[in-house]
Amino acid sequence: MEAFIIDFIINSFFFTASAASEPYFAEPIPNTTATVGREAILKCTIENLDTFKVAWIKVDTQTLLTLDTHVISRDRRLKITNSNKRQWYLHIKDVSVLDRGYYMCQINTEPMISQDGFLDVMVPPSIVEADTSTDTVVEERAKVSLRCSASGYPPPQVSWRREKSKDINLGSVGNTKNIVQRVEGEYLNLTQVTREDMGAYLCIAKNGVPPSVSKRILLQVNFSPKIKVANQMVYAVGGSEAVLGCNLEASPRPLTSWIRHDDVVLINNHKFEIIEKEEDSYKIIMQLKIRNVSDNDFGHYKCLAKNTFGDKEGFVRLIEQITTTTTAMSTIPYRVFIPIQRVVTESHTSEGTTIDKKEYGAPTTNSLRDESQVVSSEKQLGPGKVESRLEDETQQRRTVDQRPKNAKKSTSGSNKSFLVPCLVLYAAVSFNLISNYLLRV
Ligand SMILES: *[C@@H]1O[C@H](CO)[C@@H](O)[C@H](O)[C@H]1NC(C)=O
Ligand SMILES: *[C@@H]1O[C@H](CO)[C@@H](O)[C@H](O)[C@H]1NC(C)=O
Ligand SMILES: *[C@@H]1O[C@H](CO)[C@@H](O)[C@H](O)[C@H]1NC(C)=O
Repeated sequence: MEAFIIDFIINSFFFTASAASEPYFAEPIPNTTATVGREAILKCTIENLDTFKVAWIKVDTQTLLTLDTHVISRDRRLKITNSNKRQWYLHIKDVSVLDRGYYMCQINTEPMISQDGFLDVMVPPSIVEADTSTDTVVEERAKVSLRCSASGYPPPQVSWRREKSKDINLGSVGNTKNIVQRVEGEYLNLTQVTREDMGAYLCIAKNGVPPSVSKRILLQVNFSPKIKVANQMVYAVGGSEAVLGCNLEASPRPLTSWIRHDDVVLINNHKFEIIEKEEDSYKIIMQLKIRNVSDNDFGHYKCLAKNTFGDKEGFVRLIEQITTTTTAMSTIPYRVFIPIQRVVTESHTSEGTTIDKKEYGAPTTNSLRDESQVVSSEKQLGPGKVESRLEDETQQRRTVDQRPKNAKKSTSGSNKSFLVPCLVLYAAVSFNLISNYLLRV
């Protein structure tokens, strides 16, 4: 309303003050930008139009779009408005890339006068799928080149990131790893991929016209399974529940299994529960839960993983825990040596031979161990001494209970209790000798 009044005043002023003068352009057509799909409005400001007519012409195609207040072109997206015949607006709805270019505002004076204005049409970025990598599978140490092509106007900038802000490892140059958070450009070239490079990569295209776009490309790095056993010996009390674990790394996801000492492949049932926790795309924690541990559950177990690139196994031993020793001995930092040896005892029954295998693993880094391990350690036994050794072990297990008390007496206590009577005796003898001597004198 206000604008209308002001326009009216200005118009009336010019009309009265310079009615005879020719029309002229009050200002250049402002450069206009519009995002594709929106409405673009071009403005032509004219003074002293009087009875002359204004036309809009598309310069590149030489098309007459509007004349005076009429749309001449058949383009239904066009509209012409004016404000008191001073400001003439060309509206283009649903603007497209083809609308980009120069527009002429012309007045039919003799000779005609005109001026040009530029309409720029912005296009938000989009990913050109045909030229962009899809999810990629490679083997470890291979070279990978991911590409992300984007279109838009102005031409978008493409950059790469990893999901969860993980580092991008571009490969080693000499001894130094080239690690970055972000890579600019259409290509992401990784010279030697490792399993840590596995995961989702995001390419992001931006050109200042919202919205920016991104594409998620999964990189899978294949390698044969690797197993680490954190606890090679698991101690359990009869009747309790034990959990054995293997840390597995593999890609593609391997087939896994747990195998008991008697070569039985274990399955989920009332006795066993097989658990797999995925830590990362290629890191899996394999767990075997054994419920109500009983005598024949003790022994060794194998976790097994297999994919097309290889297979691997890990060993865990379930050992009976002697309950009475736990509290008394658990704080004593013994260094443990466990002989690497297989002990096989065979007992003949009427049906045939049952083999009771006991296996002793490698030395462990854990210094806190069951007392039975400590006493049965240090000596490597020959095959002939197997039975006596087993007897030793059971005997020593029985003596375990008394050890803490005995140990205390025999170390700190013994020296003092011996020393005090000696001193007393010595004093007594000396006193006697002295008194005898004095009596004689
Ligand atoms: C409008 O844009 C064109 C092309 O980008 C440029 O040459 C011209 O100087 C601009 N004019 C104004 C008034 O900004
Ligand atoms: C990345 O690899 C592509 C194709 O393998 C190649 O065209 C491009 O030049 C490489 N870019 C860089 C920065 O090495
Ligand atoms: C645990 O196992 C023993 C035999 O080893 C069995 O007698 C007992 O019933 C079992 N307990 C449970 C809760 O299953």
